[in-house]
Amino acid sequence: MAKLTEKKEKELAAKALDMRKMAYVPFSGHPVGAALLAKDGRVFTGCNVENSSYSPTICAERTAFVKAVSEGAREFEAIAIAGGFGEVPETYCAPCGVCRQVMVEFCGRDFKVILAKTPDDYKVYDLEEIMPLGFKIEDVKSGTYAER
Ligand code: THU
Repeated sequence: MAKLTEKKEKELAAKALDMRKMAYVPFSGHPVGAALLAKDGRVFTGCNVENSSYSPTICAERTAFVKAVSEGAREFEAIAIAGGFGEVPETYCAPCGVCRQVMVEFCGRDFKVILAKTPDDYKVYDLEEIMPLGFKIEDVKSGTYAER
């Protein structure tokens, strides 16, 4: 089980920052990178990939989740996200609502969301803080309605 140490947080932040280079962002010019740590220790990276038709655009976070789940990972410890305009992001890039919903599907309340400006300048949130009352798999299975 991959324990989230400070060293690991910085490593994930650095990977997320690095992944901004891969972003395909001809429309927004807003590159985002993500690095998702699975409980088995594997790290899956992602970037945002935009589209001329706009709505097919996928965020960096969901790219990382789709890569991970398609490689057999289902349990996750943390994700680092780095996004913003310019060479170095000038803001902490918070995940959009759709990405938060995807996190709720696969992650527990204490899943860590790391918003990074640099490998040393980042904030860590619990998923529960940024996505309270998330709609979960239990909510669509009869008789197992999630307790709030
Ligand atoms: N975006 C992400 O990839 N992740 C986020 O957390 C916020 C937004 C992308 C979507 C779009 O390509 C660009 O940033 C501007 O919204």
